[in-house]
Amino acid sequence: PYVVSNHPWKMEEINDYLCKYKGYVFAVGMTTAEHIDSLQSFEIRERDVFLVTYPKSGTIWAQNIIALIFELDDTDETIYENNLEKMPWLEYPEGHSDYVSRPSPRLFASHLTPALMPRGLKGKKAKIVYVARNPKDNVVSYFHFCHAWTSLETPKIGGSSWFDHIREWHTHRDEYSILFLTYEDMVMDLRSAVVKISQFLGRDLSEAMLTHIIEKATFKNMKKDPKANYEFLPEDLLQKGKFLRKGIIGDWKNSFTVAQNEMFDQVYQEKMKDIPFKFIWNIN
Ligand code: A3P
Repeated sequence: PYVVSNHPWKMEEINDYLCKYKGYVFAVGMTTAEHIDSLQSFEIRERDVFLVTYPKSGTIWAQNIIALIFELDDTDETIYENNLEKMPWLEYPEGHSDYVSRPSPRLFASHLTPALMPRGLKGKKAKIVYVARNPKDNVVSYFHFCHAWTSLETPKIGGSSWFDHIREWHTHRDEYSILFLTYEDMVMDLRSAVVKISQFLGRDLSEAMLTHIIEKATFKNMKKDPKANYEFLPEDLLQKGKFLRKGIIGDWKNSFTVAQNEMFDQVYQEKMKDIPFKFIWNIN
């Protein structure tokens, strides 16, 4: 387990698995209040890349794409066993003592909200790729994940509210160098999404490289890729094969009742009325 903290501010326990700090819910034993506070002054480098998502929005998919975009530069020092090692979670440093000493370009993933992210990111030196997913599919994906991840139980989940996450990142977007993408964009046109990400990250991809990345990032191929599919996680934490479940748009229709859908639409319209985010909810 991660070192026990002497920090004066303790995380507030929610249950055996979750704790709250500064309005955000973290997994017990995987981080400390001290680490989260230290991120405020985490030194940002020009070539750093951050992938930010709300959980279950296609994080490991975008993580794989970004890892592949940087594959060409890999040296012995930057070839990692899997994508979790190559692009570790900023807020969950367990097993990674090298965040400060890693060679550039450093790649990080995070589910944090802007207030908890390194302040230095506001200097627009580093780049942030933000991937959002339509919240109906997002919640269905999370629901299934809660059954597969031993330390989660619905409705007690990690992170923040979906609405707060997207609102805060969208509201503060001008302070960062940030690319907004949706999961649905990636499903509908993976090639364009990969081109968008690589151009934003300042990487010119050859046609061959682009084809290689797209091939490696399809649902079918990623599902069997041990570097990318998270089956390397211990089975007492996550049942095998549960990160890549269905990978489609509109699965919410198999779970939502008509009444739940109407209620959801009402809440969505109320909470998102001033956020011009357009999601694709279904494909025929
Ligand atoms: P489903 O549960 O709807 O299948 P995260 O990585 O943020 O936890 O998100 C997981 C979701 O992204 C899962 O959604 C998973 O199947 C989907 N996903 C992961 N890789 C994908 C890929 N290559 N293509 C499509 N969806 C993918």
